[in-house]
Amino acid sequence: MKGKVIAVANMKGGVGKTATVIGLAESLAARGADTLVVDLDPQANASICLAGDQFLKTIIEQGNTIDAFLEDRFMRGQKDAALEKRIRTNISNVTHLGRQLPLALLASSSELRLVERNMIFTLTKSGMSLDRIVEALYQIIKDELKRTRKSYDYILFDCAPGISVLTEVSIRLANLVIVPTIPDFLSTYGLKSFCSNLWSGPIASQSNLKQPKRLPHVLITRRRPTRDHERTRVRLRSESAKDDTRFSVFATEIPERAAIAQALGTIHVHPTFSQKWRDGTDIMLADLVKEVREVLHGS
Ligand SMILES: Nc1ncnc2c1ncn2[C@@H]1O[C@H](COP(=O)(O)OP(=O)(O)OP(=O)(O)O)[C@@H](O)[C@H]1O
Ligand SMILES: [Mg+2]
Repeated sequence: MKGKVIAVANMKGGVGKTATVIGLAESLAARGADTLVVDLDPQANASICLAGDQFLKTIIEQGNTIDAFLEDRFMRGQKDAALEKRIRTNISNVTHLGRQLPLALLASSSELRLVERNMIFTLTKSGMSLDRIVEALYQIIKDELKRTRKSYDYILFDCAPGISVLTEVSIRLANLVIVPTIPDFLSTYGLKSFCSNLWSGPIASQSNLKQPKRLPHVLITRRRPTRDHERTRVRLRSESAKDDTRFSVFATEIPERAAIAQALGTIHVHPTFSQKWRDGTDIMLADLVKEVREVLHGS
């Protein structure tokens, strides 16, 4: 039951990955689930949304980030560099029924891009293939998370846009991969390419890497009442119903709402969960939580 890993990923940028991570994490936590958010994006958007800018600065100065861990482990060869002690617990400024949400954060910083780049450069120079690097990173993060998984009900990865080695690792570690997708032409074009790259294309089929545990689950996001969005969401649903489908689609859809953009910017106040997720967005998150739990626990 414990330590279910959910990766939120899409090659396409700006589709609502971070909004999904924050909304889902807070909604799970509001239901009493101990939840950890792991930020795997050098933009550090999830980190700033949860920790606020001042506290994030302190976290980065103290070296409590995923990039500091990777640097210590891969570049400095520190075998005892631990991921767990970099996790900041009780991070949330949000309360529910008078209690702080049980949320923890493993933050990232803008250094992550450089660390990832240097890591790949150094390891390929020493003769390691990219597959081998993904495999090594997968094993290290899996081992590091072994103990951590016992402390949390859910661990959510906020992946960067594109396909980084960390995204490749995340989708293999995850019990569920959520792919937020805007129902328009370019986003769904990117969705096909993302799915075939990681689930069924040459990277997936020709390498010895561990395969993802289940098909990706598309979450329709930022839906607007336009003909284009309506047509595309119907098409996505009919494609997902085919026998040879490459993805599932959640019944829950997240519309474009000012309340969601505002919720992400709520970092300097201490709202309750329902003050933060206004305008019916708390209900949508509850629906999403229900579906996620059904996929993960079958109930
Ligand atoms: N449902 C929504 N309604 C309105 N605005 C939204 C919604 N979802 C996300 N946004 C806004 O859209 C922008 C992009 O969202 P978000 O940062 O979650 O996307 P992302 O996929 O994580 O982007 P990136 O690829 O850069 O990491 C943000 O400004 C966010 O506030
Ligand atoms: Mg993001």
